[in-house]
Amino acid sequence: MTTGPSEREYREAVSRFATGITVVTCQVQGVDHAMTANSFTSVSLDPLLVLVCVERESRFHDAISATPHWAVSILENSAVDAARWLATKGRPLHGQLDDVPHSRGEVSGAALISDALATLECRTYATHRAGDHDVVLGEVLTVSGSEPGSDPLLYYRRRYRTIEDDEMSAG
Ligand SMILES: Cc1cc2nc3c(=O)[nH]c(=O)nc-3n(C[C@H](O)[C@H](O)[C@H](O)COP(=O)(O)O)c2cc1C
Repeated sequence: MTTGPSEREYREAVSRFATGITVVTCQVQGVDHAMTANSFTSVSLDPLLVLVCVERESRFHDAISATPHWAVSILENSAVDAARWLATKGRPLHGQLDDVPHSRGEVSGAALISDALATLECRTYATHRAGDHDVVLGEVLTVSGSEPGSDPLLYYRRRYRTIEDDEMSAG
């Protein structure tokens, strides 16, 4: 009889999948909610869909469940402090964006992080329960992006990283 991998083995394996870093935001009754997330994925072109996986026990889960509109900011590497802060469990909810430069999405009312390569405003399209997370699919309502020139914030093997290599040559 074989047993499945342990949580430690699983975590070690998936930590080898390099990702970008986003901050997902929404506003509920005038209060800003925000969460660092690397589960963001582009899903569909017709309609335009993205997804983010949200831990069901998180404070942010209650927030995104309470509003149809939310936003995703794809972070530049200059936003590493904001990424760390918005992943800190137990930080105060009120004022959590006071030191994080942001603007406000016209459609969603959600905060859009200024140090971002791109931002997307979304409307929840579907929510699927998946173990201890919910997979939240969003229809993309607006997109905006900064001028090329900044580098993305990356996450690999439990560390924030920046791009060091140039594009790989063909062949
Ligand atoms: C690099 C990184 C990526 C993360 N990605 C996710 C994610 O995709 N989904 C999620 O639910 N939590 C993710 N987290 C954890 C949340 O950022 C963290 O639980 C945060 O405190 C949630 O906000 P809340 O406390 O207001 O609910 C991630 C944390 C880190 C450090």
